[in-house]
Amino acid sequence: MIIARTLEELTAARATLGDVGFVPTMGALHAGHLKLVEAAREAGLTPVASIFVNPTQFGPKEDFARYPRDEAGDIAKLEAAGCKLVWMPGVEEMYPADAATSIHVAGPSQRWEGATRPGHFNGVATVVAKLFGQIRPQAAFFGEKDWQQVQVVRRMVADLLLPVRIVPVPTVREADGLALSSRNAYLSPEERRAAPKLHAALQHAVKYLQQGKEPAAILHHTRMELAAAGMVPDYVALVQAQTLEPIAALQTPARLIAAAKLGHVRLLDNLPIG
Ligand code: PAF
Repeated sequence: MIIARTLEELTAARATLGDVGFVPTMGALHAGHLKLVEAAREAGLTPVASIFVNPTQFGPKEDFARYPRDEAGDIAKLEAAGCKLVWMPGVEEMYPADAATSIHVAGPSQRWEGATRPGHFNGVATVVAKLFGQIRPQAAFFGEKDWQQVQVVRRMVADLLLPVRIVPVPTVREADGLALSSRNAYLSPEERRAAPKLHAALQHAVKYLQQGKEPAAILHHTRMELAAAGMVPDYVALVQAQTLEPIAALQTPARLIAAAKLGHVRLLDNLPIG
């Protein structure tokens, strides 16, 4: 596997690779990221990953400085997963000192994570567009755990006519249902035991919604269930799957999305409603 740390190294390596399936990451890799690499391979593309902890998607009070970093471990995992190139730029490579451009995707970025974390999706959209420009992938693979992020990236790609296919990959979970996330490392043992209750509560809600129960009552009940598990729900919402607009009655495609604080850790999860 080639490790590129400068644009010159990236350009030289990229020229040798043909059709690329790109997996952008912020490192601290887990089985969810490796599933994305596998999905790129299975699509018949050459897997290329990036590791860049993107400062512009963190709010001033968020965990940029202490975000988990494990460069050697990440490189070993990517190599074992069959990745052919990893792009590890520095901040100066991604954000020139005189940079004056950022990308704001309206629509799907406005509510939920976008409302709680102002500027977060501008940071995501801007860095993903830059990474696409550098890597020039045929397809890019994103985990469905960050459902809203996938919709924001899809919208940006459609609006900017970028020649890349966005491939969502189902969430990888622990045996007890907890969605894999690099931030799970922050959970205390007690919080770790409580954390799967987010997924369990969403599963209950999906079951009742599919039985035709009234969505508002189910969403209220789900918030109570999360509170009873020691979480502080930020939102639990039934939304149109692509626009992320809330819906009052079941329609397809719909998604149940939720975020809740458990101690200092913000947990996200979502489920499709078939
Ligand atoms: O999902 C992530 O890890 C990040 O938001 C991404 C897509 C790598 C952009 O920094």
